[in-house]
Amino acid sequence: MSVIDVVVLASGSGSDFQSIVDACDAGEIDANVVMLITNNPDAYCITRAREHGIQHSVIDHRGLSRREHEKKLEKELDKIDPDLIVLAGFMRIFTDDFVEKYYGKLINIHPALLPLFGGPGMYGEHVHRAVLDSGMKVSGCSVHFVTNQVDMGPIIAQRCVPVKHDDSIDSLGERVLEQEHELLPTVVGYFADERVRLKEGRAWVV
Ligand code: GAR
Repeated sequence: MSVIDVVVLASGSGSDFQSIVDACDAGEIDANVVMLITNNPDAYCITRAREHGIQHSVIDHRGLSRREHEKKLEKELDKIDPDLIVLAGFMRIFTDDFVEKYYGKLINIHPALLPLFGGPGMYGEHVHRAVLDSGMKVSGCSVHFVTNQVDMGPIIAQRCVPVKHDDSIDSLGERVLEQEHELLPTVVGYFADERVRLKEGRAWVV
């Protein structure tokens, strides 16, 4: 494979999306972000896409059933037929139909060391609050394949950060996010270099 085509799905600020775009622009990874899809018409990630001349599509979920919304996502995705679909702060849970259709090319970044602190309701600051409440001394981020078990698909790569005694949700979240911005483009690069393997529910990088 030469340069892989990547579609990113995001719902918010899009700093993770930006980290992939920057690595592509810098020639650090053999990937090309061909489209941003968001479900949130007010998301800042749209501005980021515009600034980089990346095609974007707003597919609002409001007023649609989960499956109706996914059908619209599928229509966009199938037009492009990307090599990799990255969920980068995309705050939607998929049905089995969607996940099965893209299994093996659909990955997500989560702001904790999975399988801890994942699952429905565990996103953004909820995750960091739970980590602080647990008394854990390390946290981090995980990139994993998406399956029908929310946040529990095969883990591809992780990064750790310390949890400090005086951390707030924000300070821990920032430390984790810094690692996300390194880990996510790195993993996209692994895909571009055909280094990711997935077999019998386990993933690894060769
Ligand atoms: C990131 O921390 C990402 O890990 C998290 O949302 C944030 C998006 O930030 N995702 C989840 O919590 C998914 N369960 P961004 O909009 O600045 O990229």
